[in-house]
Amino acid sequence: MSTAVGSSVSRKDGILKITGQARYAADHPIKDVAHAVALVSTIAHGRITRIDSAEAEKAPGFLAIIHHGNAPKLYRSTNDFMSATKPGEVRVVFEDDRVHYSGQYVAVVVAETLQQAQFAASLVKITYEAQPPVVGIEEGRNTLYDPAEFFGDKLAYKRGDAAAAYQAAAVKHEATYTTPPEHHNPMEPSASIAEWSGDELTLYETTQWVVGARNTVAEMLGMPQEKIHIVSPFIGGGFGCKGFIWPHSLLSAISAKKIGRPVKLNLTRKQMFSACGHRSETIQKVSLGANTEGRLNALLHDTTVYTSTIDEFVESCGATIKQIYSCPNVSIAHHAARLNIATPTPMRAPGENPGMYAFESAMDELAYKLKMDPVQLRIVNHADKNEHTNQPYSSKYLKECYQVAGEKFGWAKRNPEPRSMRDGKLLVGWGMATATYPGMRSPGAARVRILQDGSASVTSATQDMGGGTYTTMAQIVADVTGIPVEKISSDLGDSHMPPAPVSGGSMTTASVLPAVKKAAEEALKKLVDAAISDEKSPLHGKKQEEVTAANGRIFAKGSSPESGISYGKVLEGQKLAAVEGESSLHPGDERQKYAFHSFGAQFVEVKVDPEIAKVTVSRVASAFDVGRIINLKTARSQAYSGIIMGIGMTLMEHTIYDKRDGSIVNSNLADYAVPVNADIHSIDVSFIDKPDPYIDDQGIGARGVGEITVTGLAAALANAVYHATGRRIRELPITPNKLL
Ligand code: MOS
Repeated sequence: MSTAVGSSVSRKDGILKITGQARYAADHPIKDVAHAVALVSTIAHGRITRIDSAEAEKAPGFLAIIHHGNAPKLYRSTNDFMSATKPGEVRVVFEDDRVHYSGQYVAVVVAETLQQAQFAASLVKITYEAQPPVVGIEEGRNTLYDPAEFFGDKLAYKRGDAAAAYQAAAVKHEATYTTPPEHHNPMEPSASIAEWSGDELTLYETTQWVVGARNTVAEMLGMPQEKIHIVSPFIGGGFGCKGFIWPHSLLSAISAKKIGRPVKLNLTRKQMFSACGHRSETIQKVSLGANTEGRLNALLHDTTVYTSTIDEFVESCGATIKQIYSCPNVSIAHHAARLNIATPTPMRAPGENPGMYAFESAMDELAYKLKMDPVQLRIVNHADKNEHTNQPYSSKYLKECYQVAGEKFGWAKRNPEPRSMRDGKLLVGWGMATATYPGMRSPGAARVRILQDGSASVTSATQDMGGGTYTTMAQIVADVTGIPVEKISSDLGDSHMPPAPVSGGSMTTASVLPAVKKAAEEALKKLVDAAISDEKSPLHGKKQEEVTAANGRIFAKGSSPESGISYGKVLEGQKLAAVEGESSLHPGDERQKYAFHSFGAQFVEVKVDPEIAKVTVSRVASAFDVGRIINLKTARSQAYSGIIMGIGMTLMEHTIYDKRDGSIVNSNLADYAVPVNADIHSIDVSFIDKPDPYIDDQGIGARGVGEITVTGLAAALANAVYHATGRRIRELPITPNKLL
């Protein structure tokens, strides 16, 4: 790896985005498109007794209404991540008259224009027979159960005897921490345009998983996969709410079928709060027991969350706690209540993010009890291997992360005493925490073409939701072929392309780029073969191993590139437009040998105005070990976004359910606060940038950077607030009312 990889290449899709040419799902100009508006339930539990559409049907432009009474036959999709099907909810939309949560789809109205569809929808009268909903973990206590698994990982876990070790510990800390329900709120609301051509369906989607969308929609419509084409070239952020396949894709498909025309369905911001998942509330009791040197001997982590009444998604807060530090006695438990709330879904670092908030807050409290520096406490308890799986880590540079970020932050100058540091009348607080996320990888495939005009293209059915996939794919091809990044076109976001996994679990880079590299090498090899077999080529008769390729030319090893022949000339000699390489790769047995995890350190400075309890995050310094950095610019950008999301989570975000009817009180961006630029000050991100030697067999060595950057931030910030104010807030978000 030489030129492009590792450098700060600007986004290939940047110009398209800032000039408005990038086509998001709803932007595709489809001829003769009609507009759909979804109607959602206003009760959270009960039955639809009547849908009266008589007035709506007389409205101008009205074309159709579909609901449980007249819906075409739809099917349950399998729910198997490994076979690339994953409905956000296994319940079939419109399957019956029952209502399980507020915001559940009850009808879809189609009309000529959006305004006509909205007006017609407003005339539909729906009556319900409501039953009291269960909204809130306390209210749902009698429904609590212990969920078994999260994506095949057992949720309950024990090693040693944590309860006894806790009782016997010299220094103890026990507390309960809570995080509220939260919503992803990507800039781009989900949308779907359905266009039928005979028995074939094209869906213009906003999805983190074109292959999963194709497979899941195919099963739900009872169609062969080959008849479905998912197109999703640009995604305006996802953070998990576009990972699984949600019913709006079906609503556009059945509407278009019914009226015999393409149909566009846009979700409203309000509908985004019930239509595509969220993060559930979490209640986490953490018990830590240590000796007087701070060595952990007991660790108990007990999580209570909720899920819906019709499906199961559980925020797995304890999952990463099994491996985060060295400790012989560990007990992890998860409980879930079944509520009349829409099914939760992954939201940026599901489990790890709220889990590390609670756990790393507890570690800070323990450090105070021990009168020990919080960084030192973490170093003392560093896990040299994964004590859960009993495997060595493939690579781990967590201590370097503490050092690099701590030095940049100036941690050594911290006075640990709460309320001891000031900036004029402002209280200054410094806090830190560890970050972690697994290094996942799935099968991925790619196709690379080298063209006669000296350009190249790379194609994979992956996605770019802002992380930089368009750019990193081209960088890999540039490094293999020596063709400059500007002359390489990247194509993705289309289910007809070589298959790739969900852009979730931070696995796109590790899954797709090795296949891109192999495909580029295959294409180049064909070119070299042509160059040495062509009689007119200056390299005719040489052996494969005697020639090499760089900078768009093939030449004899040891001589100058100019002595050889350009890729274009080779292809010209063959009368070929292009050579093509394809590759499909999957993880091997390295996962039996090594544990793959990324780590990092987050250091946060807050300034608190004691009079109005206003918290400003004045500085963040973070360092992450995520293996090799493919593109410093887009990786940093990902880290900024994770850190900013963490600031929002800690200080602002909180979805409020009305317990009487299960509706969401703040389902809009005025009342559901997220950070804006004015909330964000200095953020300094470092990467250790050491390749993971085992994650792939193509020498890429990148573990992905999407999710780890949000983990630990909330704890570091809450710890800084404690240091500034002496107030330990164990209930997110830390709003001024809790600090006054
Ligand atoms: Mo992510 S929450 O795995 O899209």
